[in-house]
Amino acid sequence: MSWKAKPSATTDPVSLDVLADLEKPAGGSFVTDALRSRWTAEIIPKYATRHGALMPILHDLQHAYRCIPYQAMIDVALFLEIPPAEVLDTTSFYEEYHTEPVGRCVVGVCQSIACEVCGHQAIVDHIRNRLDLEPHETDDEGRFTLLLLECLGSCDTAPVALFNDELAENLVISQVDAILDEVEATPIDQLDREAVRAIVRKHATTQAGREPGESGQT
Ligand code: FES
Repeated sequence: MSWKAKPSATTDPVSLDVLADLEKPAGGSFVTDALRSRWTAEIIPKYATRHGALMPILHDLQHAYRCIPYQAMIDVALFLEIPPAEVLDTTSFYEEYHTEPVGRCVVGVCQSIACEVCGHQAIVDHIRNRLDLEPHETDDEGRFTLLLLECLGSCDTAPVALFNDELAENLVISQVDAILDEVEATPIDQLDREAVRAIVRKHATTQAGREPGESGQT
């Protein structure tokens, strides 16, 4: 059994047991003093308006809690002094934002045209079969979530996938298996953002004459 990463009209609602497992922030607000300080010092100054900082703040909040619960949207709206509906619209529009808990390793395979012609379906099918997950599902352990994403802006290194926020390029099945093997072998309490990033980078592949992460454009 598994649970869905993002509810919609065609998905079952997440179980209350899963939501009960979500760690509640001390003091009742998802915008803790630590987050408030970091956002004020490091994110807000980069944007002309507080509203402009919404997306990076949502990313940071999601990294902290592994999802963006509805109360967190309200807390972010209060912090940014914008309507909660603006936060809800943004969170619900992008597949990369999750309103319910996801796995420690979110595998998002690009399904747009360049990746499609370069064989994304074989990669998706391999991951589906290996993890016994359909897109938008998370395994019971909370280790993996599988997503299908739109163009990740790396069409010249297609097919590509995001493992959390780390891009894996020129994907081949053996590379996917090597990454999944290591993620599975890592104790789940050690499977954080940095651990997944290190695993993906360790198994980066190259195209002829090009290093991993290099765009190939001059
Ligand atoms: S189509 Fe996959 S990165 Fe652009």
